[in-house]
Amino acid sequence: MTPNRQHKIEQVMSQRQKTLAIVLENVDDPHNVGAILRSCDAFGVGEVHLLYTVNKAPKNRELRSKSAASAAKWLKITKWDSVAKLASYLKKKKFKIAVTKLTGSAIDPAKADLAAPVAIVIGNEHDGVSDQLSKKADLNLVIPMVGFVQSFNVSVAAALLLYEAFRQRASRASAPKSSSSSRLAKRSRAK
Ligand SMILES: C[S@@+](CC[C@H](N)C(=O)[O-])C[C@H]1O[C@@H](n2cnc3c(N)ncnc32)[C@H](O)[C@@H]1O
Repeated sequence: MTPNRQHKIEQVMSQRQKTLAIVLENVDDPHNVGAILRSCDAFGVGEVHLLYTVNKAPKNRELRSKSAASAAKWLKITKWDSVAKLASYLKKKKFKIAVTKLTGSAIDPAKADLAAPVAIVIGNEHDGVSDQLSKKADLNLVIPMVGFVQSFNVSVAAALLLYEAFRQRASRASAPKSSSSSRLAKRSRAK
């Protein structure tokens, strides 16, 4: 491995957010899973949990789909088949469980504290987040929408939520700044 490559790997891995996790609950379409994994890599998600209680978990080769690019190999991915086991793991690690149930008392992600340790739960394309997992939740996040359609595509919703978590963490200087924003900051300091 070249020193440049080694440096890049170390730099990227050092920016992984140990206190930011995502849970995909029975997300069905491998293209959606792949696209979400790609966003997880981009936003420095520390842990990805694949919770499959209804459908079969995607096979490892499916996680390396085109839509994932090469994201899967850089992510810490764990598969679960029990809501109770995953919830108790997350609670033990002091992660808040943030579901995205499109009904009930939900808050705008911009008004939630996503810089604190949090696991964001993304639900199935048709059925959404299960009631079983919702009962274990500490908060419910819904991205405001003003159109005719009731929900985002699951991978779009995941990207928007992760961006909000990234933005909050970056603005508190506890998290990675993108290389372009650090360049801009340097340039404005130089002026
Ligand atoms: C297509 S939606 C599922 C819709 C399902 N009928 C329901 O009522 O939950 C699939 C997933 O995308 C995410 N999602 C879609 N729109 C969202 C929004 N406005 N806010 C937060 N998450 C959203 C949620 O994780 C949801 O479970």
